[in-house]
Amino acid sequence: MAIHGEITPPPDKSISHRSFMLGALAEGTTTVRNALESDDIRSTIGALSALGANIRRDRDMYVIEGSRLHEPLQVIDAGNSGTTARLMSGILAGLDGIAAMTGDGSLVKRPMARVIKPLELMGARFMARKGAYLPLAVKGGKLRGIFHPMEVASAQVKSALLLAGLAAEGQTTVNEPSPSRDHTERMLGFFGASVSVSHTSVSITGGQRLEARDIVVPGDPSSAAFPVVWAAATPGSEIVVRAICLNPTRIGFLSVLERMGARIRRENERTVGGEPVGDLVVTGTGLEGTTIAGEEIPSLIDEIPVLVVAAALASGTTVITDAKELRVKETDRIAAMVQGLAGLGAEVEELDDGLIVKGPCRISAGSVRTFSDHRIAMSFAILSRALDLAIELDDPSCVSISYPGFFKDMETLG
Ligand code: S3P
Repeated sequence: MAIHGEITPPPDKSISHRSFMLGALAEGTTTVRNALESDDIRSTIGALSALGANIRRDRDMYVIEGSRLHEPLQVIDAGNSGTTARLMSGILAGLDGIAAMTGDGSLVKRPMARVIKPLELMGARFMARKGAYLPLAVKGGKLRGIFHPMEVASAQVKSALLLAGLAAEGQTTVNEPSPSRDHTERMLGFFGASVSVSHTSVSITGGQRLEARDIVVPGDPSSAAFPVVWAAATPGSEIVVRAICLNPTRIGFLSVLERMGARIRRENERTVGGEPVGDLVVTGTGLEGTTIAGEEIPSLIDEIPVLVVAAALASGTTVITDAKELRVKETDRIAAMVQGLAGLGAEVEELDDGLIVKGPCRISAGSVRTFSDHRIAMSFAILSRALDLAIELDDPSCVSISYPGFFKDMETLG
């Protein structure tokens, strides 16, 4: 079904997490307008509140009284949120005292050694289940800066080390194989810290103070990707997406869709709080298959499930590789997409680090397991709407992790 209309996507999840964290670490009163109100962000607000941060909602904004954080008296529950668990590990490592943290059934299976190991090298001490998973306990304290070459590009690991580096003695440098989202380094700069950045390295010197700021969170490109794919893949559609974050480390999916033949125009481009923001006009065309691999993967890692939907609607073969990280997201997203599509009759092949989709897929009505992963649920909801076909989701409510208004917004457009 073709769609028309205008949509303002929900506020960006990554930037919302970081606004609360840096606001809690800064001196003075930070305000956050247009913060995302979703399950994952509630996990971050809960974690920071357990450390003594004073965060309250005041009309249309959140007010954070920056203060000295202290060791928590309760176990921190990061819920479903990998960003909360990993970035908070960096904050806790620099905090004098002991903290315990856990998460839900999905998060306790996700790898934490990638933050534990370098934070231990900086001087924090961890005890974690099997040495690598939540629940964990951390004894923070005096840290020293390190040089850390990361094996996989990860904004969460990079951010955890930069936050720990802020509390460490000397310089902390993180190097990644290809650039991941850079919101932490941008926002640290916005809060007055000096951070040096090159293509794949970031360095911070410890002991710098953050100054409170007023933040306006832009729209989330990862959430906008759902209606954008729907419009791009259905000829006759035209939608306008307002106030979306156009940070280049987040919008690889737009280049992929353009490569597949989509027509996407940018308007009203501006900078808000150190982040590029703008509107998009997306016109539906028939899409063609493509190859998605290499350096562009980190810039679209969360959009791969919905790009798989675009591939299923496109003509020709789409090959996605170098995306093994998808196996350790909220669920194994390669397996979930392959299983879901194959169950609906599509021709898909699972690879160790990606998948191959032969489009246009012949899809029949049916049901799909979401594994309670928000992006899997929303991807199949888009496939269902684009084809006007009943696809039943076992857990539609999991969209509240990142996009509580998803079904309402999609109804408005459809
Ligand atoms: C995020 C980073 C990404 C992404 C996640 C959010 C962040 O993970 O998949 O949804 O806010 O830093 P990586 O740490 O693998 O880059």
